[in-house]
Amino acid sequence: MNGFVYDIPTKVYFGSGQLQHLGMELSRLGKRILLVYGGGSIKKNGLYDSVTWELKRMGLMFFELGGIAPNPRVESVREGAALCKKEKLDVILAVGGGSVIDAAKYIAAAACVDFDPWKFMSEQAPLKEALPVVTVLTIAATGSEMDSGGVITNLSTNEKLCRFAPPLQPQVSFLDPKNTYSVSRYQTACGTADIMSHIIEVYFNMTPDLQMLDGIMESLMKTVICYAPVVLADPENYEARANLMWAGSWAINGFIKGGKQQAWSCHPMEHELSALYDITHGLGLAILTPRWMEYTLDETTASKFVQFGVNVFSIHPGLPPMEIAMESIRRISEFFFHTLGLNRTLGEIGIDDSQVTLMAQKACRGDRILGFKTLYPQDVEKIYQMCI
Ligand code: NZQ
Ligand code: ZN
Repeated sequence: MNGFVYDIPTKVYFGSGQLQHLGMELSRLGKRILLVYGGGSIKKNGLYDSVTWELKRMGLMFFELGGIAPNPRVESVREGAALCKKEKLDVILAVGGGSVIDAAKYIAAAACVDFDPWKFMSEQAPLKEALPVVTVLTIAATGSEMDSGGVITNLSTNEKLCRFAPPLQPQVSFLDPKNTYSVSRYQTACGTADIMSHIIEVYFNMTPDLQMLDGIMESLMKTVICYAPVVLADPENYEARANLMWAGSWAINGFIKGGKQQAWSCHPMEHELSALYDITHGLGLAILTPRWMEYTLDETTASKFVQFGVNVFSIHPGLPPMEIAMESIRRISEFFFHTLGLNRTLGEIGIDDSQVTLMAQKACRGDRILGFKTLYPQDVEKIYQMCI
């Protein structure tokens, strides 16, 4: 087991009615705020009014940048950073999902440098400081509200790149499950698939590590499997939305990772899909994950699938290991495609195999993915083919 540093410096206000603390938290961090939001859902569900009322109540000056697209574009980051510099803004307030929060994080970093923000992603340009970021989360999915990562898309180069850096960690996040009541059935399903994937990417690891972390991951996965159908049937079920929301934050905030160094596998493959076809992140993950599992299952990895099948899906431990392993893949497929109702194949969403060679090379960054099983471009290409 490797040693690790535990440090998750985001203050979380969880639950209904916590927004009354927003103004106080913002005024602690600065005086001039950039309010960042998406395509309009917060105006429809009333959250925009609640947030701006709170800002006005505290006498805070704010500017707005709306219209952040899902799979946020580098152009929005440039626009936000320019506004911050021009108006001398000192705090970024993101009200939305992962796309809004990721854009806000990179606006916060870009406001502190003189070079083009795409260089953060494409050239790993130094990212040593950022304006403070505060978030009001509106969808349970990416965990961006409690991690230091961000994913930005550049349509002119067909690239979607991810980078984690400590200055991007939100200082404060407001998580009110009621703010997710209006999330559509489809986006709820995609967000749920994303949460499951974040846990699976860490859980599927053959290096012996802290047993308690495996137990926590199994509990998180069981929580998601239990509450997702409740939310789909009853979108305003507070307990179910709350469980999904908090599980989503803990799936990726660094805690379950412990000292594991292993790279993720399905995420780099998915990011190439959404870079090229602009599909929803969680949908791509749902299609890829069971095929990646089938591809990586063999005598050397079967024990992990057995642990997954027995502890998460309660498959009888007395069955032959390979039988348990294959049944566990069948159960997770059933969860993605039947319980969540997501598309089973890339073909169903209009994606053919014309770009798989290119996507496989890009997913491996010209090398390989050092994940649960090492994947070379030819392996990734086969996994894409299995998805079509
Ligand atoms: O834009 P609006 O109008 O707000 O609508 C959004 C959007 O259409 C809607 N939505 C969000 N909250 C809602 C709502 N609709 C009604 N009521 C609400 N309360 O949902 C749609 C999707 O929003 P988006 O922010 O794109 O979803 P998500 O949170 O899944 O974010 C996806 C992005 O995050 C990246 C993904 O790659 C993708 O670009 N990721 C970020 C990560 C991170 N920062 O750590 C890790 C993830 O693995 C992921 O890669
Ligand atoms: Zn994800």
